[in-house]
Amino acid sequence: MDIYQKLKREHDDHRELMRRIADTTGETDERKRLFGLLVQDVESHAAAEEQTLYSELIEATEGQPQTRHSVAEHKQSSDYLDELRKTDMSSPAWLATFKKFREALEHHMREEEQQVFGLSEELIDDERAAELGVKFDGRKQVEQRRFRQ
Ligand SMILES: [Fe+2]
Ligand SMILES: [Fe+2]
Repeated sequence: MDIYQKLKREHDDHRELMRRIADTTGETDERKRLFGLLVQDVESHAAAEEQTLYSELIEATEGQPQTRHSVAEHKQSSDYLDELRKTDMSSPAWLATFKKFREALEHHMREEEQQVFGLSEELIDDERAAELGVKFDGRKQVEQRRFRQ
């Protein structure tokens, strides 16, 4: 499996998790559990992505603007998650912020799948894309340990 297939599969997991969270109400154990999983997985995904796909892309001049843009979106996503962690889960404000976060992340994942992967396929050969997939798994595991609660 190359890095694109791995990233797409995780994006689908994040879409599913967000869908399930949107169906929960108030400060329930289910919402807390799913939100904890989402934070851990989205944050470690973004960090590992920056350490593999984006660190490779930024080495090419043509890859630099897109890399900067995507990394800024990762920061925006992290900021939303921090805000959510500080907000009372049973308040309407939590769900309102969650909706904004979800829209931003859906946009980000779509852009990666529709633009970044294509650009990367032009700049990185297939063999390297497979190597990056292996490297991604290793980095993801390291990053996940930082978010384990
Ligand atoms: Fe990303
Ligand atoms: Fe991603």
